[in-house]
Amino acid sequence: MGCASYGKEGFVMKKHLFYLLLALVMIWCITGGCQQEEEISALHKEVPALAEVYQDFFPVGAAVNSWTIESHKDLIEKHFNSLTAENEMKFESIQRSPGKYTFERADAIVELAEKNGMLVRGHTLVWHSQTPAWVFKDEKGRPASRELLLKRMEEHITTVVSRYRGRVYAWDVVNEAVTDGGGPGYLRTDSPWYRIIGPDYIAQAFIFAHRADPGAKLFYNDYSAVDPAKSDRIYRLLKDLLEQGVPVHGVGIQGHWDISYPSANQVEAAIRKYASLGLEVQITELDISVFPWSDRGHLRAAPKNRLRTQAQRYRELFEVFRRNKDVVTGVTFWGVADDRTWKDNFPVRGRKDWPLVFDEEHQPKAAFWEIVNF
Ligand code: GLA
Repeated sequence: MGCASYGKEGFVMKKHLFYLLLALVMIWCITGGCQQEEEISALHKEVPALAEVYQDFFPVGAAVNSWTIESHKDLIEKHFNSLTAENEMKFESIQRSPGKYTFERADAIVELAEKNGMLVRGHTLVWHSQTPAWVFKDEKGRPASRELLLKRMEEHITTVVSRYRGRVYAWDVVNEAVTDGGGPGYLRTDSPWYRIIGPDYIAQAFIFAHRADPGAKLFYNDYSAVDPAKSDRIYRLLKDLLEQGVPVHGVGIQGHWDISYPSANQVEAAIRKYASLGLEVQITELDISVFPWSDRGHLRAAPKNRLRTQAQRYRELFEVFRRNKDVVTGVTFWGVADDRTWKDNFPVRGRKDWPLVFDEEHQPKAAFWEIVNF
């Protein structure tokens, strides 16, 4: 049946339907619906940009990946002025097999940053994890010699750092080289870099990176870096490096924290301790889990009280960062919004977590408002 066959009856019915709909809309407006809509859209317009709020303090960054630079583009472009590649600059992403460098994914992140006038932190050059097994073996599959591994390290660092010279302003040169305790020394001995090259692999990595881009800021980056015992060990490492004249400029405190750990005082004490060596300090991988470390339970939705506590934790930590802006030269979140976070699989695989300041719908959470209203 075509429109033409509607006839007069059809027209009258359509008119009635129109008036009915109009009446419904008017009732909805009178009862506050319109106003609510207006309030919601006004709220959206008033969401301040994080990086702008912090422009007198430090750059605010996010770790992004090949998916989120599309799916979270609006948030990234609005709120952040520094980007870190979540995985795309790691050894296994850039040189999966010997001599075959693949830069496309890393390039896309750097290009997005440049298009928006953002900084880029390079992450990471030398790490015991996410490095292919071939790196530590010779052509016959036997453990690589110190000379071979040093040569590979130099080649990799030189190729990657030179490619981004003047575009990546800071590098996490060595990641997680300090032990969690137990052994006699302060270095992690289960790293193949350590086992094959020896303790000077760290100094060598910084020297190669500095040669490739003398203008880049070079960081040592680690987790549990505000834990008093581990921060003593990190401090010793950094002091040794500085005394040897190694070009290290800063320390990255990863900041994978939760609603009950660590205290703001502990964070501040660690910042001041590292700063006493004359180093810059950056928070490089910030997220605050709604689960205390020992809690291995699951939750279907984020409970209001935990989100409240999380917001307070974010507030007190950002108070510390702001107070120490003389040495804190960057704060980077490890992710953009709660719909995509590594915490969904760590420390419990497949457990939903909500550790960031934007929710799963990309809306600002209580934590966001706590760090922008001060
Ligand atoms: C460490 C690394 C990061 C990342 C996180 C987990 O902190 O430094 O590159 O792998 O773990 O996502």
